[in-house]
Amino acid sequence: MTAPHGINPNIPHSARVYDYWLGGKDNFEADRQVAEQVIAAVPGVRESARNNRAFLGRAVRHLTRLGVRQFLDLGTGIPSQGNTHEVAQAEAPDARVVYVDNDPIVMTHARALLTSTPEGRTAYIEADVRDPQLVLDHPEVRETLDFTRPVALMMVAILMHISDDDDPAGLVKAYAQSLPGGSYLVLSHLTLDLVAEEMAERYLSATRHQALRRTPRSAEQIARYFEGFDLVEPGLVGVSEWHDAPLFPDSATWMYAGVGRKR
Ligand SMILES: C[S@@+](CC[C@H](N)C(=O)[O-])C[C@H]1O[C@@H](n2cnc3c(N)ncnc32)[C@H](O)[C@@H]1O
Repeated sequence: MTAPHGINPNIPHSARVYDYWLGGKDNFEADRQVAEQVIAAVPGVRESARNNRAFLGRAVRHLTRLGVRQFLDLGTGIPSQGNTHEVAQAEAPDARVVYVDNDPIVMTHARALLTSTPEGRTAYIEADVRDPQLVLDHPEVRETLDFTRPVALMMVAILMHISDDDDPAGLVKAYAQSLPGGSYLVLSHLTLDLVAEEMAERYLSATRHQALRRTPRSAEQIARYFEGFDLVEPGLVGVSEWHDAPLFPDSATWMYAGVGRKR
């Protein structure tokens, strides 16, 4: 892959490392080296990324079948197989999706995100999710989504990128306040709860690089993000267990996932 203008291929980058774990092609040697170092130190990390992506697809399909037609997808990532709009519009061609990411690399792939069925619509905005007012008032968001009708707020593998100083719970609340009852929160999050202590320590030491820095959180902390929402069955569970059999049943679980319905 040739580096797009303004992008340094020699500095490993979070979105491209994640893309590599997913089996994507939008990554460079420096990203692959860092990604492989983590895989060598901590088994199951690549499978966890894939399980997370599979959860995203299952949740979108589930909600579309329940009649949800609008998705606000925060922390889009480099487009991969089964992007939110592809899954939603395969079920319901009139589904509308807005993607939000602050990484210029995602912008270089925006064309892949801006495909849509004629009946539906997809939009992409480059913005920092830590500024909910800017996102919610953005003209593209207002033109694409109708906030008098249910919206699925997608926070899939994004809050682990938000430090405690940036008040992730306050952020969820700020977005949730603008959504009507019957809307949904789809959330997955890095955790060290479900692995042995020794494995957790190895993870922390293998992910000191800037491109890998995340904040793992406990089930209790993650459950708090669902305040004002009723968790739908099966509740907050290991990411691979939500509404299906695990893709990699023997692999360690590094993420929690859940879907809540706004009261
Ligand atoms: C691990 S990827 C998740 C991608 C996708 N949601 C998924 O689950 O497959 C996290 C994404 O969040 C984006 N991100 C991190 N912090 C952000 C912020 N403050 N504002 C907007 N996007 C952010 C990163 O650029 C990255 O693309």
